[in-house]
Amino acid sequence: MELNLAGKVAIVTGGSAGIGLACARALYGEGVSVVIVGRDPARLAGAEASLRNLTPEKGAPQILALQADTSKAEDTERVVAETIARFGRVDILVNNAGSAPAGSFLDLPDQAFLDTWNTKLLGYIRFVRAVAPHMIARKSGAIVNIVGGASRTPSATFLTGSTANAALVNFTRGISKELAHHNVRINAISPGSTATERAERLAEQNAQARGVSVEEFKAENARNIPLGHMVDPDEIAAMTLLLVSERSRSITGIEILIDGGAAPGI
Ligand SMILES: NC(=O)c1ccc[n+]([C@@H]2O[C@H](COP(=O)([O-])OP(=O)(O)OC[C@H]3O[C@@H](n4cnc5c(N)ncnc54)[C@H](OP(=O)(O)O)[C@@H]3O)[C@@H](O)[C@H]2O)c1
Repeated sequence: MELNLAGKVAIVTGGSAGIGLACARALYGEGVSVVIVGRDPARLAGAEASLRNLTPEKGAPQILALQADTSKAEDTERVVAETIARFGRVDILVNNAGSAPAGSFLDLPDQAFLDTWNTKLLGYIRFVRAVAPHMIARKSGAIVNIVGGASRTPSATFLTGSTANAALVNFTRGISKELAHHNVRINAISPGSTATERAERLAEQNAQARGVSVEEFKAENARNIPLGHMVDPDEIAAMTLLLVSERSRSITGIEILIDGGAAPGI
């Protein structure tokens, strides 16, 4: 399918690993210049090198790797300013950086909630606020928020992430109405268990909180996925490509679940 994305410019937060790196790879392959954002410089350099090894199918895209912490407002402003200075525009934002911890509710202090909300909820909101004026000025833009299935199916051992995710779906839907007047679309993708480093960390934290072994937790998790397999990060990236392309020009304000059929409700 022709997506006509070549020549565009995208910011991918958390683009140095997992789902974010898969999105950056997919966009770059389509000829999109990508700005990847992460905290750990070594990880960022590794991701940049892996992208530079690829041969894009279209266009002559560029890569800009920026070390930044999305929980800090000043870092968000700097990333967007450096993107505009280098490319003069930003067409696509993939809000993806997140690291909410799992744990037993009674053991989680206020700070665990505040840190998660600051990075995942406010971090995403700040990036939307920072890129929106540039998109509105061009009367064109597409934003994808990588949220998570806990938005609708909260878990007692993942309430930091569950609460942030529910609020993010609400934010995505709410702001979509205003951005739509300027031809800027914003949608959410909520992955279920996706095979990344983070999924491994969460399995360990969840197992500890529930007092079971990591193997027991993983087996229980697998039983709850009707299609019987974890999501591949490339599946999230493929949906992201579709949502940021003009093929989805009438889609805004929605949440798409990619979870192997795991969500129990409608
Ligand atoms: N994997 C899953 O099963 C799953 C399920 C549902 C939702 N999600 C969501 O999908 C997103 C990506 O998850 P993932 O599994 O790909 O995670 P991951 O493998 O841990 O990768 C996370 C990426 O985000 C970066 N990052 C984390 N905190 C950051 C911060 N404050 N500032 C800048 N960069 C930051 C990390 O780099 P540094 O650590 O170097 O900064 C890394 O590049 C998250 O928002 C997560 O909540 C994942």
